[in-house]
Amino acid sequence: MKQKIFVSRAIFPEVLARLEQHFEVQSNQEDRIYSADELLAAAKGRDGLFTTPSEPVTAALFAANPQLKAVCNMAVGYNNIDVAAATAAGVMATNTPDVLNETTADFGWALMMATARRITESEHFLRAGKWKKWSYDSFVGPDVHGATLGIIGMGRIGQAIARRSLGFDMQVLYHNRSRLKPEQEAHANNAQYVSKEELLKRADHVVLVLPYSKETHHTIGAAELALMKPTATLTNIARGGIVDDAALIEHLRAGRIAAAGVDVFENEPAFKPEFLSLTNVVLTPHIASASTPTRLAMANCAADNLIAALSGQTPPNLLNP
Ligand code: DGY
Repeated sequence: MKQKIFVSRAIFPEVLARLEQHFEVQSNQEDRIYSADELLAAAKGRDGLFTTPSEPVTAALFAANPQLKAVCNMAVGYNNIDVAAATAAGVMATNTPDVLNETTADFGWALMMATARRITESEHFLRAGKWKKWSYDSFVGPDVHGATLGIIGMGRIGQAIARRSLGFDMQVLYHNRSRLKPEQEAHANNAQYVSKEELLKRADHVVLVLPYSKETHHTIGAAELALMKPTATLTNIARGGIVDDAALIEHLRAGRIAAAGVDVFENEPAFKPEFLSLTNVVLTPHIASASTPTRLAMANCAADNLIAALSGQTPPNLLNP
């Protein structure tokens, strides 16, 4: 008899078909975001769950579903899963690292460039029929080439962002839980390890790529924003909650930093409406990994993990210690 799984959101039909070859699949066809309680109920009688960052996978879910063997998240981030509770309950938890590094780094650059060079703001101006003349000071902003790039969170994506900066003649500063090996720093455009404070004071463009946890909550708040140059930009492609969005809005409104690119929000998909009244912010709906090949690779990676876990093998991307 086939084992039973629940797929918590709509996914690529070919990946669903692949899962159906292995398992009896139930899925959330209507693609509504389930609450913690709804997911708990949907997990009843299931051996495995295929989840996304939108659904909370809680200790209560594990307690209510002792038959569950694996939860496989289609994302590198897994702050939606209580991994400690999974481990205590003997449930394997997995994520999808590596397959999205380059695509996410591309997007970090796209958002940083759009932010620094005021792309969306000027496009809105043009679309609104306001463009009447070329002017020496129209939509001027900071340069990206030759500037100092500050990366907070120097994992695989942070390093991919740093590598791209070589072509822009940038100096790279980084801050991370631990310092990289010298050969990794060399490969990341000779990135220099500095304190968070020094990075914020010196960088022209700050990019956030660190995972969310209780420890990284509000890594960037009012005190940190106050250290940045008034001409600097901040790009958040990490997770909502890494930045104190209220403090960011205040600093953008007062022009205490030049601009921000924000792909992730506290409490997304809800976000603070004050963002919409600011012209010096570029807003995108959590799409840093959203290229077609990468999203397909992420879905297949989560499926690989689930297939391995439920066939008694160690899944390639096991998170439990
Ligand atoms: C991830 O993989 O964690 C991304 O944020 C989802 O695209």
